[in-house]
Amino acid sequence: MSHVLLGVSGGIAAYKACEVVRRLREAGHEVQVAPTTAALRFVGVPTWAALSGRPVSVDVFDDPDQVRHVTLARWAELVVVAPATADLLARAAAGRADDLLTAALLTTRAPVVLAPAMHTEMWEHPATQANVALLRHRGVVVIDPDVGRLAGPDSGPGRLPTPEALVETVRRMLTRGAAATSPDLAGRHVVVSAGGTREALDPVRFLGNRSSGRQGYALAATAVARGARVTLVAANVTLAPPAGVRVVPVVSAAELGDAVLSVSRDADAVVMAAAVADFRPAHPSATKIKKSVSGPPRIELVTTGDVLAALVAARIPGQVLVGFAAETGDAGADVLGYGRAKLAAKGVDLLVVNEVGEHRGFESSDNQAVVLVADGTSREVGLGPKETLADVVWDLVAARWQPGADGAGE
Ligand code: CTP
Repeated sequence: MSHVLLGVSGGIAAYKACEVVRRLREAGHEVQVAPTTAALRFVGVPTWAALSGRPVSVDVFDDPDQVRHVTLARWAELVVVAPATADLLARAAAGRADDLLTAALLTTRAPVVLAPAMHTEMWEHPATQANVALLRHRGVVVIDPDVGRLAGPDSGPGRLPTPEALVETVRRMLTRGAAATSPDLAGRHVVVSAGGTREALDPVRFLGNRSSGRQGYALAATAVARGARVTLVAANVTLAPPAGVRVVPVVSAAELGDAVLSVSRDADAVVMAAAVADFRPAHPSATKIKKSVSGPPRIELVTTGDVLAALVAARIPGQVLVGFAAETGDAGADVLGYGRAKLAAKGVDLLVVNEVGEHRGFESSDNQAVVLVADGTSREVGLGPKETLADVVWDLVAARWQPGADGAGE
């Protein structure tokens, strides 16, 4: 159980913060709500106090003997502001302390995560973007807003992520403990591919695989909690997208390849967690293949393009490339033997090798792997949640960016 200070600023998405309070409490956390005066025009003090089970004040001059901004800031193990309006971002970036929330933001030494929500024009305005960049530079995690329906008839980037996704980010940041105060992927753009491709046989059938996308989604979510800008190329995944992630949906290996290569041009790291088909039908039928008296059809397959190989060929200096290899081992070599050979053949910096088996790999929320590094070292990750493996991958990626690390495309 942790102490979470939830700041709420004055935007229509304030009503969604009620659900954030409820979910955080259900998860066992103590929640103190600090609304701005403007937030109270959307949701009143009684609602915040009832949901959080704690008294709520807005002004630094309420109970001055208790020096509320200091006690709150020290009490908090994490500060989350949702929604964070353009005005709140501006005040936080300028270091102002003109209400209880901004005073607490200036005082706290706990990790801070801001979830902006506003109209697209306000979000895209250079002033807001400069404020966000400054806050990120100072170690604040700023979650990019979702794209979608905004207040009124408008639609575009500016939506608050779902309460469920926000609470997930909070949970991940709390798990990181003190490390969350210095988000080591801040300022980085990372691309993750997830899921399994589908290669059409006809309009209703496909060749596919059992990848659920969970490992890729865990990689994306942990990268957000560590401050990265994340693009997730998702092949046929039904999971809810993590907060702050730009999702590019794809179906086939060819689409995945095009999408990954196009979004990776400015990426600091690309993690290919997707299970990409190695073969596709050479001649997919435009109409449904009918049962035929002459027996089942023969399906000719052709090889798909190797996306990792294309990434290696197009890599920009400093870009770290990570492959995944689900292996079973056979008479020819064991799982790690195949892994080492694949790392060398693919020319990647890291290869996450997992043995496919019960309770791990596909469709499971747990995984177990050995991460092979191009310098010959390796890191074993015992059976545990996919986000634990994800954090190890990001640790090793960040290590490749350190001056003096070999490789990383240079
Ligand atoms: N991969 C890729 N493009 C493909 C197939 C796979 O980029 N057309 C990527 C996967 O996303 C994964 C890595 O390559 O990160 C290893 O995938 P795997 O299927 O294990 O490798 P293959 O080279 O296909 O080797 P194998 O013969 O063992 O299937």
